[in-house]
Amino acid sequence: MHSGTSSKLAISQPGGAPAHVAIIMDGNGRWASSRGLPRLQGHRRGADRVREIVEASPDLGITHLTLFAFSTENWKRPAAEVIGLMRLFRRYIKKEGARLVAEGVRVRFIGGRERLDADLQALMAGLEAQTRTNTRFNLTVAVNYGGRDEILRATRRIAEAVRAGEMTAEEITPATIEAHLDTAGLPDPDLILRTSGEYRVSGFLPWQSAYSEYAFVEACWPDFTAEMFAQQVQGFGSRERRFGAVAG
Ligand code: FPP
Repeated sequence: MHSGTSSKLAISQPGGAPAHVAIIMDGNGRWASSRGLPRLQGHRRGADRVREIVEASPDLGITHLTLFAFSTENWKRPAAEVIGLMRLFRRYIKKEGARLVAEGVRVRFIGGRERLDADLQALMAGLEAQTRTNTRFNLTVAVNYGGRDEILRATRRIAEAVRAGEMTAEEITPATIEAHLDTAGLPDPDLILRTSGEYRVSGFLPWQSAYSEYAFVEACWPDFTAEMFAQQVQGFGSRERRFGAVAG
Protein backbone atom coordinates (compact mmCIF):
# COMPACT_ATOMS: atom_id res chain seq x y z
CA MET A 1 0.00 0.00 0.00
CA HIS A 2 0.98 3.56 -0.56
CA SER A 3 2.35 4.96 2.67
CA GLY A 4 1.01 8.48 2.36
CA THR A 5 2.89 11.62 1.54
CA SER A 6 3.19 13.43 4.83
CA SER A 7 6.51 13.52 6.67
CA LYS A 8 4.49 13.38 9.93
CA LEU A 9 4.08 9.63 9.50
CA ALA A 10 6.35 7.18 11.33
CA ILE A 11 5.79 3.67 12.64
CA SER A 12 4.72 3.82 16.28
CA GLN A 13 5.23 0.91 18.63
CA PRO A 14 2.48 -0.31 20.95
CA GLY A 15 2.40 1.30 24.37
CA GLY A 16 2.07 4.99 23.64
CA ALA A 17 -0.92 7.11 24.52
CA PRO A 18 -2.79 8.75 21.65
CA ALA A 19 -1.70 12.40 21.58
CA HIS A 20 -4.83 13.44 19.70
CA VAL A 21 -8.21 11.86 20.32
CA ALA A 22 -11.27 12.92 18.33
CA ILE A 23 -14.76 11.93 19.46
CA ILE A 24 -18.08 11.61 17.67
CA MET A 25 -20.40 12.15 20.65
CA ASP A 26 -23.40 10.14 19.52
CA GLY A 27 -26.53 8.82 21.21
CA ASN A 28 -27.80 11.76 23.24
CA GLY A 29 -31.22 11.54 21.65
CA ARG A 30 -31.57 7.78 22.15
CA TRP A 31 -30.35 8.07 25.72
CA ALA A 32 -33.15 10.56 26.43
CA SER A 33 -35.90 8.81 24.44
CA SER A 34 -35.22 5.47 26.12
CA ARG A 35 -35.92 7.20 29.45
CA GLY A 36 -39.03 9.00 28.24
CA LEU A 37 -37.17 12.33 28.39
CA PRO A 38 -37.04 15.09 25.76
CA ARG A 39 -34.00 14.80 23.44
CA LEU A 40 -32.56 18.05 24.79
CA GLN A 41 -32.21 16.41 28.17
CA GLY A 42 -29.79 13.99 26.53
CA HIS A 43 -27.78 16.87 25.08
CA ARG A 44 -27.65 18.53 28.51
CA ARG A 45 -26.33 15.34 30.06
CA GLY A 46 -23.94 15.14 27.10
CA ALA A 47 -22.56 18.58 27.94
CA ASP A 48 -21.78 17.29 31.47
CA ARG A 49 -19.80 14.43 29.90
CA VAL A 50 -17.85 16.95 27.79
CA ARG A 51 -16.66 18.61 31.00
CA GLU A 52 -15.67 15.27 32.53
CA ILE A 53 -13.81 13.95 29.46
CA VAL A 54 -11.95 17.24 28.90
CA GLU A 55 -10.80 17.14 32.52
CA ALA A 56 -9.72 13.49 32.34
CA SER A 57 -7.72 13.88 29.11
CA PRO A 58 -4.41 15.46 30.24
CA ASP A 59 -3.91 12.75 32.91
CA LEU A 60 -4.25 10.11 30.16
CA GLY A 61 -1.38 11.64 28.22
CA ILE A 62 -3.66 13.27 25.66
CA THR A 63 -2.59 16.70 24.41
CA HIS A 64 -5.35 17.31 21.83
CA LEU A 65 -9.05 16.51 22.06
CA THR A 66 -11.46 17.25 19.21
CA LEU A 67 -15.21 16.93 19.76
CA PHE A 68 -17.90 16.73 17.07
CA ALA A 69 -20.67 18.87 18.56
CA PHE A 70 -22.81 19.84 15.55
CA SER A 71 -22.60 18.71 11.93
CA THR A 72 -23.56 20.51 8.73
CA GLU A 73 -26.43 17.99 8.55
CA ASN A 74 -27.75 18.71 12.06
CA TRP A 75 -29.63 21.81 10.82
CA LYS A 76 -32.25 19.34 9.52
CA ARG A 77 -33.34 18.59 13.09
CA PRO A 78 -36.45 20.21 14.58
CA ALA A 79 -35.90 23.94 15.20
CA ALA A 80 -36.38 23.56 18.96
CA GLU A 81 -33.56 21.02 19.15
CA VAL A 82 -31.20 23.18 17.05
CA ILE A 83 -31.98 26.23 19.19
CA GLY A 84 -31.49 24.17 22.35
CA LEU A 85 -28.10 22.89 21.16
CA MET A 86 -26.94 26.40 20.26
CA ARG A 87 -28.02 27.52 23.73
CA LEU A 88 -25.95 24.71 25.23
CA PHE A 89 -22.87 25.81 23.26
CA ARG A 90 -23.34 29.41 24.52
CA ARG A 91 -23.81 28.19 28.08
CA TYR A 92 -20.73 25.97 27.87
CA ILE A 93 -18.54 28.86 26.70
CA LYS A 94 -19.94 31.23 29.34
CA LYS A 95 -19.79 28.72 32.20
CA GLU A 96 -16.58 26.86 31.36
CA GLY A 97 -14.67 29.61 29.54
CA ALA A 98 -12.94 31.11 32.57
CA ARG A 99 -11.90 27.69 33.81
CA LEU A 100 -10.50 26.68 30.42
CA VAL A 101 -8.55 29.95 30.28
CA ALA A 102 -7.19 29.42 33.82
CA GLU A 103 -6.30 25.79 33.26
CA GLY A 104 -4.12 26.51 30.24
CA VAL A 105 -6.47 25.01 27.65
CA ARG A 106 -6.29 26.40 24.14
CA VAL A 107 -9.74 26.30 22.60
CA ARG A 108 -10.38 26.28 18.87
CA PHE A 109 -13.58 25.90 16.88
CA ILE A 110 -13.71 24.27 13.46
CA GLY A 111 -16.57 24.33 10.97
CA GLY A 112 -18.29 27.08 8.99
CA ARG A 113 -19.16 29.99 11.27
CA GLU A 114 -21.23 32.22 9.00
CA ARG A 115 -24.45 30.30 9.58
CA LEU A 116 -24.20 30.65 13.37
CA ASP A 117 -25.84 33.54 15.26
CA ALA A 118 -23.58 36.59 15.56
CA ASP A 119 -23.51 36.46 19.37
CA LEU A 120 -22.40 32.81 19.36
CA GLN A 121 -19.72 33.60 16.76
CA ALA A 122 -18.51 36.40 19.03
CA LEU A 123 -18.38 34.10 22.07
CA MET A 124 -16.39 31.54 20.07
CA ALA A 125 -13.93 34.12 18.73
CA GLY A 126 -13.59 35.60 22.23
CA LEU A 127 -12.68 32.27 23.83
CA GLU A 128 -10.23 31.48 21.03
CA ALA A 129 -8.55 34.86 21.52
CA GLN A 130 -8.44 34.48 25.32
CA THR A 131 -6.81 31.05 25.10
CA ARG A 132 -4.52 31.66 22.12
CA THR A 133 -1.32 31.52 24.17
CA ASN A 134 -2.35 28.49 26.29
CA THR A 135 -0.27 25.38 25.73
CA ARG A 136 -1.17 22.82 28.43
CA PHE A 137 -4.00 21.22 26.47
CA ASN A 138 -5.80 21.72 23.15
CA LEU A 139 -9.56 21.45 22.90
CA THR A 140 -11.16 21.74 19.46
CA VAL A 141 -14.92 21.81 19.09
CA ALA A 142 -16.50 21.13 15.71
CA VAL A 143 -19.64 23.26 15.23
CA ASN A 144 -21.43 23.30 11.87
CA TYR A 145 -18.64 21.01 10.73
CA GLY A 146 -18.71 18.67 7.75
CA GLY A 147 -15.60 17.14 6.21
CA ARG A 148 -16.75 17.69 2.64
CA ASP A 149 -17.69 21.28 3.48
CA GLU A 150 -14.25 21.84 5.03
CA ILE A 151 -12.46 20.44 1.97
CA LEU A 152 -14.71 22.46 -0.34
CA ARG A 153 -13.94 25.70 1.50
CA ALA A 154 -10.21 24.90 1.48
CA THR A 155 -10.31 24.11 -2.25
CA ARG A 156 -12.02 27.41 -3.01
CA ARG A 157 -9.37 29.34 -1.08
CA ILE A 158 -6.55 27.50 -2.85
CA ALA A 159 -8.22 28.11 -6.25
CA GLU A 160 -8.46 31.80 -5.39
CA ALA A 161 -4.75 31.87 -4.51
CA VAL A 162 -3.92 30.25 -7.86
CA ARG A 163 -6.18 32.70 -9.70
CA ALA A 164 -4.50 35.61 -7.90
CA GLY A 165 -1.14 34.32 -9.12
CA GLU A 166 0.12 33.55 -5.59
CA MET A 167 0.93 29.94 -6.55
CA THR A 168 0.69 27.61 -9.53
CA ALA A 169 -1.45 24.45 -9.64
CA GLU A 170 1.75 22.37 -9.66
CA GLU A 171 2.85 23.94 -6.39
CA ILE A 172 -0.17 22.54 -4.52
CA THR A 173 1.04 19.82 -2.12
CA PRO A 174 -0.62 17.94 0.75
CA ALA A 175 0.87 20.62 3.02
CA THR A 176 -0.98 23.30 1.01
CA ILE A 177 -4.26 21.49 1.57
CA GLU A 178 -3.56 20.98 5.29
CA ALA A 179 -2.76 24.66 5.68
CA HIS A 180 -6.16 25.60 4.23
CA LEU A 181 -8.24 23.20 6.32
CA ASP A 182 -9.96 24.40 9.51
CA THR A 183 -7.52 22.19 11.42
CA ALA A 184 -4.39 23.95 10.10
CA GLY A 185 -1.64 23.66 12.69
CA LEU A 186 -3.25 20.73 14.54
CA PRO A 187 -1.80 17.21 14.47
CA ASP A 188 -3.84 14.47 12.80
CA PRO A 189 -6.01 12.44 15.22
CA ASP A 190 -4.40 9.22 16.45
CA LEU A 191 -7.66 7.75 17.70
CA ILE A 192 -11.24 8.48 16.65
CA LEU A 193 -13.92 7.26 19.00
CA ARG A 194 -17.65 7.02 18.36
CA THR A 195 -20.20 6.27 21.04
CA SER A 196 -23.67 4.69 20.84
CA GLY A 197 -22.84 1.58 18.81
CA GLU A 198 -23.02 3.29 15.42
CA TYR A 199 -20.27 2.28 12.98
CA ARG A 200 -20.12 5.36 10.80
CA VAL A 201 -17.69 8.20 10.20
CA SER A 202 -20.30 10.83 9.28
CA GLY A 203 -17.86 13.14 7.49
CA PHE A 204 -15.72 13.72 10.58
CA LEU A 205 -12.15 14.81 9.68
CA PRO A 206 -11.94 12.84 6.38
CA TRP A 207 -8.56 14.27 5.32
CA GLN A 208 -7.05 14.20 8.80
CA SER A 209 -8.16 10.64 9.62
CA ALA A 210 -6.30 8.91 6.76
CA TYR A 211 -4.14 6.96 9.25
CA SER A 212 -6.25 7.22 12.42
CA GLU A 213 -7.27 4.22 14.47
CA TYR A 214 -10.99 3.89 15.14
CA ALA A 215 -12.81 2.65 18.24
CA PHE A 216 -16.56 2.22 18.56
CA VAL A 217 -18.22 1.88 21.95
CA GLU A 218 -21.75 0.77 22.73
CA ALA A 219 -22.49 3.34 25.45
CA CYS A 220 -24.47 6.41 24.47
CA TRP A 221 -22.52 9.64 25.01
CA PRO A 222 -24.42 10.66 28.19
CA ASP A 223 -23.34 7.32 29.73
CA PHE A 224 -19.73 7.53 28.56
CA THR A 225 -17.61 7.83 31.69
CA ALA A 226 -14.01 8.85 32.27
CA GLU A 227 -13.31 5.20 33.15
CA MET A 228 -14.62 4.01 29.77
CA PHE A 229 -12.55 6.69 28.12
CA ALA A 230 -9.40 5.55 29.95
CA GLN A 231 -10.11 1.98 28.84
CA GLN A 232 -10.30 3.02 25.17
CA VAL A 233 -7.11 5.05 25.46
CA GLN A 234 -5.33 2.08 27.03
CA GLY A 235 -6.66 -0.19 24.25
CA PHE A 236 -5.13 2.17 21.70
CA GLY A 237 -1.76 1.73 23.43
CA SER A 238 -1.66 -1.95 22.44
CA ARG A 239 -2.07 -1.28 18.71
CA GLU A 240 0.91 -1.10 16.37
CA ARG A 241 0.50 1.60 13.75
CA ARG A 242 2.34 1.11 10.49
CA PHE A 243 0.97 3.94 8.35
CA GLY A 244 1.18 1.69 5.32
CA ALA A 245 4.77 0.63 5.99
CA VAL A 246 6.10 -2.76 7.15
CA ALA A 247 6.85 -3.41 10.82
CA GLY A 248 10.58 -3.40 11.61
C1 FPP B 1 -25.36 13.29 18.88
O1 FPP B 1 -26.43 12.63 19.50
C2 FPP B 1 -25.04 14.51 19.58
C3 FPP B 1 -25.17 15.76 19.07
C4 FPP B 1 -25.69 16.04 17.73
C5 FPP B 1 -24.84 16.94 19.89
C6 FPP B 1 -23.60 16.88 20.70
C7 FPP B 1 -23.70 17.96 21.70
C8 FPP B 1 -23.38 17.84 23.01
C9 FPP B 1 -22.75 16.66 23.62
C10 FPP B 1 -23.75 18.96 23.88
C11 FPP B 1 -22.77 19.91 24.30
C12 FPP B 1 -21.52 20.04 23.56
C13 FPP B 1 -20.57 20.93 23.91
C14 FPP B 1 -19.29 20.98 23.16
C15 FPP B 1 -20.75 21.81 25.06
P1 FPP B 1 -27.80 12.44 18.71
O2 FPP B 1 -28.71 13.54 19.12
O3 FPP B 1 -27.52 12.34 17.26
O4 FPP B 1 -28.29 11.08 19.29
P2 FPP B 1 -29.22 10.02 18.56
O5 FPP B 1 -28.41 9.44 17.45
O6 FPP B 1 -29.48 9.05 19.65
O7 FPP B 1 -30.44 10.75 18.10
